[in-house]
Amino acid sequence: MIKKEEKLQEMNQALKALIQPEGDWLANLANSSALLFEFMDDINWAGYYIWKNDQLVLGPFQGKTACVRIEEDKGVCGTAYSQRKIMVVEDVHQFPGHIACDSNSKSEIVLPIIVAGEVIAVLDIDSPQKSRFDELDRKYLQEFVDILVDETDFLPLMEKF
Ligand code: SME
Repeated sequence: MIKKEEKLQEMNQALKALIQPEGDWLANLANSSALLFEFMDDINWAGYYIWKNDQLVLGPFQGKTACVRIEEDKGVCGTAYSQRKIMVVEDVHQFPGHIACDSNSKSEIVLPIIVAGEVIAVLDIDSPQKSRFDELDRKYLQEFVDILVDETDFLPLMEKF
């Protein structure tokens, strides 16, 4: 079986190949969520919430239908947004204010996407396994977000800042 770290490295290489020729933000968020879903084991949701008119609004994703709007500071996503930091939640049922979209979700990682000093979106990944996300996931998903930011034209999302 291919080692977890090798698979994460392979995923990030695949992301570069997929988005380097393409700067469109919507296309890149859509394809990158499909890539996460394909490469990461034991996940049931992967996608984006985009900061729009003072709320996080559902963006491209893979998985079951999800809640559309999340307020700043609310849930894991709103907390990652306002604290501008990666949130790793081992057991979502122990996280005060967790927003349950899929009752199968047991653990979650959320990364802020920061462009020119502003959080423009968050990447959210859910798992039906408790404590699914570890240091390796955190490291390679941060790299994933860095590649996305480097290769994508997010200016259309930034007009309001
Ligand atoms: N659980 C998230 C909400 C989004 S869904 O998981 C897709 C939260 O608490 O912010």
